[in-house]
Amino acid sequence: MLGYRHIFHAGNHADVLKHAVLTLCLRALLRKEKPFVYIDTHAGAGRYDLADARAGRTGEFLGGIARWWEANPAGPGLEPLLEIVRAENPDGVLRHYPGSPAIAHRMLRPEDRMVLFELHPSDHQELAGRFGHGPGLKVEQVDAFERLKAFVPPQERRGLVLIDPPYELKSDYAKVVELLVDAHRRWATGVYLLWFPVLSRLAAQRLIERLAGTGIPRQLCIQYLPHAGEDESNLLGSGMLVINPPFKLDAALGELASTLAEGVPGRARVLWSVPE
Ligand SMILES: C[S@@+](CC[C@H](N)C(=O)[O-])C[C@H]1O[C@@H](n2cnc3c(N)ncnc32)[C@H](O)[C@@H]1O
Repeated sequence: MLGYRHIFHAGNHADVLKHAVLTLCLRALLRKEKPFVYIDTHAGAGRYDLADARAGRTGEFLGGIARWWEANPAGPGLEPLLEIVRAENPDGVLRHYPGSPAIAHRMLRPEDRMVLFELHPSDHQELAGRFGHGPGLKVEQVDAFERLKAFVPPQERRGLVLIDPPYELKSDYAKVVELLVDAHRRWATGVYLLWFPVLSRLAAQRLIERLAGTGIPRQLCIQYLPHAGEDESNLLGSGMLVINPPFKLDAALGELASTLAEGVPGRARVLWSVPE
């Protein structure tokens, strides 16, 4: 089933959390000279036009990137992402939102590599058109749950894997756990980022506990719940779980959480679900 299209959701509050964490992690990896690989298992189309009727139909970006673009908060948590969004919109009008591949593409150096998987034919075509050509770039139309194992461990032995499935199928919850266990067994030192929706606090807690129960050490988690307490919303918010977080990422995520929370207690929080 391939009903999901990210253009309807691009730039929403979940993307802001996901991409803020991604930029902070990539910044940390860039501190060392040694090249690394960025692997995006569910890459989407790569970049989105917020003037597209499909983005307008949901208007989700209005409660996400458009708010933060307007608010332009001081502080290091969101700044790396906002810097990239500004670069995507050089005339100062918010229209283009970078997906995870566009963010990584802007940040990586010529010596780093980028590997993108995307199953949907149209999104894969867009993605391949944007990032499929050039040294160090690889785009494949494959099932990420089958394909990732062929890429880990990478030749560089340094890198980050972003796992960002649509969770349209309930089976995705079990599959991400299996995927992480298998990838971590092959490559224990990689940085893994898993995005997950928070449909209910209990369901999210169950996933976090399942991951904690795998025996994989060093799991850091941030949750951002802008719709907690609203009855009508079907998505309270979302979370990012980071395995092998780079040095001092916990402090950086703490700053990000305090920016995103806007002073509302419990709206954003960070915890080590499996300690160091
Ligand atoms: C949430 S979107 C990705 C957004 C992107 N990571 C970003 O942050 O800009 C999830 C994508 O996964 C794709 N997808 C779904 N199942 C997949 C699978 N088994 N393997 C690879 N891609 C898949 C969907 O077509 C969709 O484009």
